[in-house]
Amino acid sequence: MRRIGDALDGAVSQLSPVVGDAARAECLILLAYATGRQTSSLRLSLDDELSAADTETFDAAITKRLKFQPISQIIGYRDFWKHRFYVTPDVLDPRPDTETLIEKAVELGPFENVLDLGTGSGCILLSLLDEWPRAIGTGVDASAPALDIARKNTQTLSLTDRSEFIIGDWCNGISQQYDLVVSNPPYITQDAMDALDPDVRNWEPRMALTPEGDGLDAYRAIASTVQKVLKTNGVLLLEIGFDQGPSVTQLLIDQGMSDVQLFQDINGKDRVVYARKSEQKGQ
Ligand SMILES: C[S@@+](CC[C@H](N)C(=O)[O-])C[C@H]1O[C@@H](n2cnc3c(N)ncnc32)[C@H](O)[C@@H]1O
Repeated sequence: MRRIGDALDGAVSQLSPVVGDAARAECLILLAYATGRQTSSLRLSLDDELSAADTETFDAAITKRLKFQPISQIIGYRDFWKHRFYVTPDVLDPRPDTETLIEKAVELGPFENVLDLGTGSGCILLSLLDEWPRAIGTGVDASAPALDIARKNTQTLSLTDRSEFIIGDWCNGISQQYDLVVSNPPYITQDAMDALDPDVRNWEPRMALTPEGDGLDAYRAIASTVQKVLKTNGVLLLEIGFDQGPSVTQLLIDQGMSDVQLFQDINGKDRVVYARKSEQKGQ
């Protein structure tokens, strides 16, 4: 049996060359996962012994991290907005950036019915439905395994009676109209994919990260069809990459959307595009 402190120090030396300064914090999270204890309690229990079973789980977790598997996938969840979302390699790991879109929607809401295009883990749709107890919503994704994760998160959050998940290609095949359409589509350019950290490039679904090419194809597809799924005066909120504001704004204006505006994230970078379907357009 090993002391917790020794197991921690050993893992930190293994992980430091791979993740640098984050090694100690990451090892503590993985140790907490392996032992079922809080990181704060572990810091105060460095002389306790690690059981054989916990040692095995911890070592396996460190081995996965040495292969760049994201922490969220190893421990199986990511905390996003107000809830914990189940995460696997089949879905994008929910990002803090995306909370900017939630903040904007909550500021503008409540909305009665919501369509989430490219729902992945369901983190956007489910966070909004939880904020608005009378709202109902639909999550669409082109990935069946991603929808399985979204459905699992829906059950955990007890939102099954107010949500449905359907496989599809953006707005195609949707006959209903919604008050709010949200999307965090894949937007990394094909060229930028090679420069991504291996945690992201090797472990998250490529179709969740990039539409290939210039990174704008998903916005083109959504901009050209979204009016048919929006009610008059309905709102569209899109997450964007920090340098995509002008291009996405132009795409939406070209398609006749009204009041197109950019909103910034906590770092002052363009992160969300707002647009509204005006009374005259797309009727
Ligand atoms: C950037 S991820 C966003 C996931 C989740 N909404 C979030 O914010 O964490 C983009 C999602 O779009 C989905 N997707 C990719 N192409 C699609 C398409 N043609 N139609 C619908 N969804 C698509 C991917 O499977 C992925 O789940």
